[in-house]
Amino acid sequence: MSVEATAPGKAILFGEHSVVYRGPAIVIAIDRRAKITAKERDDEIIRFDCLDLGFEGYFEGDEYHPVAGEEWRGNRLQAMLVAARKTMEHLDKHSGLDLTVRSEIPIAAGLGSSAAICVATVAATGELLDGNLSLQEICDLAYEGEKVVHGTPSGVDNNISTYGGVLSYETGVGIERIDFQGGLPLVIGNSRRKRSTRRLVARVRLLRDRNPELVDGLIDSMGEVSRKGLEAIKARDYPMIGDLMNINHGLLSSVGVSIARLDILVHAARGAGAYGAKLTGAGGGGCMIAITDPDKLKEVSRAISHSRGEPHIVNISYEGVETRRLD
Ligand code: PMV
Repeated sequence: MSVEATAPGKAILFGEHSVVYRGPAIVIAIDRRAKITAKERDDEIIRFDCLDLGFEGYFEGDEYHPVAGEEWRGNRLQAMLVAARKTMEHLDKHSGLDLTVRSEIPIAAGLGSSAAICVATVAATGELLDGNLSLQEICDLAYEGEKVVHGTPSGVDNNISTYGGVLSYETGVGIERIDFQGGLPLVIGNSRRKRSTRRLVARVRLLRDRNPELVDGLIDSMGEVSRKGLEAIKARDYPMIGDLMNINHGLLSSVGVSIARLDILVHAARGAGAYGAKLTGAGGGGCMIAITDPDKLKEVSRAISHSRGEPHIVNISYEGVETRRLD
């Protein structure tokens, strides 16, 4: 028997970096998904087929054996390995596994690829072992995998990937699912430059240590932009969302997390008539996001492409993690 589980990636509309201190961050699930296919084995090996990414290998205990690709690729699989093992421990059912990973979500771009893969891994493993896991159990077990990669992540990525839709997250307060229906006309532009969230968060912290009052002021302003952004989203006020994205991008640039390539894509989107655009996620590379009139989605997309970005017209996904048995 084999099982397939899929889970969506995410984009941060407002509040990245400020959420490290307080927030809120406003996050949507996007209609780009990671897919895991899981099959039981009759030994104890956990094998990963990531041939889309150019590698394949298996774990015998904690030891990684590459089949295709380099040995260091094993490090990239730790989050999924932990997610699968924690799921088996939780269910007190153990098996070897063949896991096939396919994903439409660009990696290391701030679009929640690792969380989506962890969520889908837990869901597929749970279903395969007849676990009847609740959504909250899937979300919590995926967080265990996420911790391996990100230290102590906020929990936003695994939540949005499990439940879909729109959520707000405020540090010290927690996650609130936002009652919002329908789409938003959004274009994401991938700068194609990989970056490390951890390093960028550390860079902002250093700047804040050197200039506490100034940087706290900027962080508070970002929080204010997020709160206003959520109201504008609920009111479907695209020009206002655009204004707030532009302000947010300026604030993020002020704390040093934009780069020339992101600025070029942001200006290309605005120049093509978007209401507004900003970097999304940690910055330093990764992606930007623009809100436009629905009629201008293609034009904005083309402008991003002409500026050597990789455009994705995205929408909000209300489908969180989904699981089905294949045979
Ligand atoms: O990893 P990303 O690109 O989705 O960025 C995460 C958002 C930050 O606020 C920069 C970090 C965090 O943990 O909230």
